[in-house]
Amino acid sequence: MQSGQASGRRVILESPVPWLYKFLMPVARERVPGDARATRETREKTMSDPFEVPVPEPVPEIDPHPVATIAGIGAFDGRSVTLRGWLYNLRESGKLLFPIFRDGTGTIQGVAHVKSVPAEVFEALKGLTQESSVVVEGRVRADKRAPGGYELDVENIQVVHRVPETDPFPISLKEHGVDFLMEHRHLWVRTPRQSAILRIRAEIMRAAAEYFDSNGFIRTDPPILTPAACEGTSTLFPVDYFGDPAFLTQSGQLYIESTALALGKVYSFGPTFRAEKSKTRRHLTEFWMIEPEVAFMDLDGLLELAENFLSHIVQSVLKNRAQELVTIGRDPAKLETIKPPFPRLRYDEAAELLNQAHKDGHLEAPFVYGNDFGSPDETWLSSQYDRPVMVHRYPADVKAFYMEPDPQDPRYALCVDVLAPEGYGEIIGGSQRVSSYELLSSRIDQHQLPRQAFEWYLDLRRYGSVPHSGFGMGIERAVAWICGLDHVRETIPFARTLHRIYP
Ligand code: 4AD
Ligand code: MG
Repeated sequence: MQSGQASGRRVILESPVPWLYKFLMPVARERVPGDARATRETREKTMSDPFEVPVPEPVPEIDPHPVATIAGIGAFDGRSVTLRGWLYNLRESGKLLFPIFRDGTGTIQGVAHVKSVPAEVFEALKGLTQESSVVVEGRVRADKRAPGGYELDVENIQVVHRVPETDPFPISLKEHGVDFLMEHRHLWVRTPRQSAILRIRAEIMRAAAEYFDSNGFIRTDPPILTPAACEGTSTLFPVDYFGDPAFLTQSGQLYIESTALALGKVYSFGPTFRAEKSKTRRHLTEFWMIEPEVAFMDLDGLLELAENFLSHIVQSVLKNRAQELVTIGRDPAKLETIKPPFPRLRYDEAAELLNQAHKDGHLEAPFVYGNDFGSPDETWLSSQYDRPVMVHRYPADVKAFYMEPDPQDPRYALCVDVLAPEGYGEIIGGSQRVSSYELLSSRIDQHQLPRQAFEWYLDLRRYGSVPHSGFGMGIERAVAWICGLDHVRETIPFARTLHRIYP
């Protein structure tokens, strides 16, 4: 026992920041006493090894302030808590210091008066540099004027790591150019707006998977290294696969068609790649796609699935990320309308609207019937509605080889693009799939796709083929729309674009 205690203290005293020990490892601290005793008792019973490694004794608790997060600080009104985070900003006015702390869950303003805190605490805080990491103790005080509703009367502070004045945090609170910010993306993500976007992104991904998980879908993960194209051969990223050509996947679709015929309702969720040469606000070269695929589902069923799925995501963000929407200045009223049913528009009807818009001077270029919509066309179309619009039955010639022709008129494909409102354009693309072996086989030849690489895909039409449908939603486009951002580069922690692969 004696040696255990002594050793226990020694461990703590040798720790570089002894005061911090209890805050940095609160879980370990709580578990040590019971575990340590149990271990010792067991050892005493079973062996008497003189070289036994001493088990550290716990530090006595002197000051058990609960460790709080800024987001959850409301539960501690009037009490003292410990916060662990970083100094976001510091305002000094003579004898008063107003530090703003952030901890990843939010920001809170602290108040420290020279007379109300110990001198060394005031000194440690005074002149503290932006993004220095800290452990702070303070009393929580409700304040209606505070953005989060609370302020912190600082009582104690320990600087974990002080950012030196000679090498300050590069992203100051003034405006920076986008290129500079992207070059420092690894640090830019710390700012409140970027953190809020990433939290909303995570909620969108969670809610998207939740929708399928709770509606009988089974998640099946397609491969990322593939032998052939899914979405056109012009945007493939080649990979040298032990001397053979292979490509990074453009979409999991072809593979989940296979698992849909095995399991009924499936989805995939993972990174996808397009060697997009386009430098637009909608294109990334690496992005995340969630794709459902359902056996025995037709295009009408798919439209219903898409509107219910999107509504669920938007309503989840409104419910669970309201504070973050405030942080980024997104008006929730624009999202509250996102409920089924969504308007449905045939391609032909959309083409007529675009022609009229051109005549009325809203669009520069006339729309050429038979083409896919350009960005300005999508932007204009989607700005006409207060909820996503589902454009269906495009001319088969402008769409992918796997799309089922409309039996009413085979010049059109049974497909849909869902265009997000406020000019955001396409966020979902999907279709009913060709189910006939003969048709699919001839399409593969027409599109000059390497037949050998598609034999397995043709098998799905050889053995128990059924009508089936699916779609893909790009997460980043959904985040851009839901957050109201003007570029997808802020929707993913580290964007990969035509001219950027650093950091
Ligand atoms: O319309 P796309 O190309 O459809 C497919 O890949 C189908 N195989 C999906 C399926 O039916 N299972 O892409 C689907 C979605 C688009 O609507 C868009 O949201 C996103 O993926 N997307 C991109 N997002 C960012 N950058 C890019 N370069 C994107 N290309 C597509
Ligand atoms: Mg598309």
